[in-house]
Amino acid sequence: MTMRAATLDDLDAIMALERASFPSDAWSEAMMREELASPHGWYVVVEEAGRVIGYGGLRAVGGATDADIQTIALAEGFRGKGRGRTLLTALLDEAARRGMRDVFLEVRADNPVAQALYVSEGFAEVGRRPRYYQPDDVDALVMRVNIAGWIARNTSDPEVCT
Ligand SMILES: CC(C)(COP(=O)(O)OP(=O)(O)OC[C@H]1O[C@@H](n2cnc3c(N)ncnc32)[C@H](O)[C@@H]1OP(=O)(O)O)[C@@H](O)C(=O)NCCC(=O)NCCS
Repeated sequence: MTMRAATLDDLDAIMALERASFPSDAWSEAMMREELASPHGWYVVVEEAGRVIGYGGLRAVGGATDADIQTIALAEGFRGKGRGRTLLTALLDEAARRGMRDVFLEVRADNPVAQALYVSEGFAEVGRRPRYYQPDDVDALVMRVNIAGWIARNTSDPEVCT
């Protein structure tokens, strides 16, 4: 697996994954293009054998202290093998580099796989947006992680066994 910065040349591949991963509420191509071009965004793609099989994006406005994980998705056959965590870690590392204090995200209430990933990286639910995802009528959970806490968790000494 390789990870690199996304460019506008990746738009078609990203949109194919976006539509397959979020069949009822995919972003439009225009929205995704704006995201990829935004100076406030930081998007990466994951490749296997030269093919884009995943992507993720962070929005971190210069001068702000709060950032957002905008999206993260992998092609179906490439899920469940650690790539999602690697992508999320890269986005949180970038948030840390940009001096962000907290990172937020929204996740569908009916997406236990993504929620489990976020909770395992220290995200906690801080709010709920009822019926946020339309037309499915599904709530959004708003989750937050504190970057200093996330770094501390990931750099703490392993337990010493005697
Ligand atoms: C959500 C997604 C990015 C996670 O990536 P992934 O590569 O599948 O996940 P990983 O293999 O890195 O696993 C990370 C954690 O996710 C959770 N997880 C992964 N697969 C799971 C499954 N089938 N059931 C329950 N939890 C699961 C676990 O907590 C796992 O940690 P563990 O391996 O230590 O148990 C990926 O499944 C995906 O693209 N899903 C469709 C799009 C989507 O829902 N995006 C999120 C929008 S908010």
